[in-house]
Amino acid sequence: MFFPAGMLSFASFARIPEARGMRMKILGLCGSPRKDNSRTAWLVQRTLAAAEERGAETEYIDVARLKLGPCVACDRCHHLGECVQKDEFNAIFRSMLFADGIVLGSPVYIYHVTAQLKLFIDRLANAIHCLRLEGKYGAAIATAGGSGHEETASYLERLISRLGAQCVGKVGCTLEDGPVKPGSAPGVQAWELGVHLVEAIAAKKEFPEQRREIEARRSYFRQLMVKRQDQWPWEYRYWLKKGWL
Ligand SMILES: Cc1cc2nc3c(=O)[nH]c(=O)nc-3n(C[C@H](O)[C@H](O)[C@H](O)COP(=O)(O)O)c2cc1C
Repeated sequence: MFFPAGMLSFASFARIPEARGMRMKILGLCGSPRKDNSRTAWLVQRTLAAAEERGAETEYIDVARLKLGPCVACDRCHHLGECVQKDEFNAIFRSMLFADGIVLGSPVYIYHVTAQLKLFIDRLANAIHCLRLEGKYGAAIATAGGSGHEETASYLERLISRLGAQCVGKVGCTLEDGPVKPGSAPGVQAWELGVHLVEAIAAKKEFPEQRREIEARRSYFRQLMVKRQDQWPWEYRYWLKKGWL
């Protein structure tokens, strides 16, 4: 089997849970800097707890605690299939590749995700060009003081789709909804989100509207890959190997 530089070798493929018949894996990433006092973190962890109760293996990552720099627009990821910066991005992205489901959570900071999470998101250009999370499922969570949670959760949902995955749902709340805890409306929604995520992964559920969106992105990037095969050689090879060209 041919694997372009930076792609999974057979040995790493064999470590993928599905390839080994192992437990489903769900990764939760949260962009709040408030650590244990974060409402978003609580909701992400609640979603993970529901998934775990349904048999999934889960991992929670506090993105604000990671050593992460901003994208420096060097374009090397398009050549190599991974980032050249020596920080924690590649390890976290690898965990995403090994997960079946990804929960993304952020507080609203001035109408958007936090800068901490955006640093991580901006590093995903190669992943978006190559729809590298295709076949996986996601879920989105956003909390706000008063507003912007719906837009921010929708942004995270769109990001999940741009990465090639399908989003099973989103949860958003404001301070008006009161403290987040088991039994609160957001707490119940976050739990249900975890259950939906596990069920969608187990059933390989298709969301037709999202599938159309993913296919539209694939058509868009197909043209670009042909045009930019010299500037994006790793990505071009990835597309060839996938049989998408
Ligand atoms: C720098 C900063 C910017 C914020 N911007 C907004 C905002 O634009 N709209 C809003 O409704 N709440 C805003 N908030 C409030 C947070 O979104 C809200 O308290 C959120 O639930 C915090 O989540 P956390 O507990 O997970 O950190 C902001 C808070 C901070 C610290």
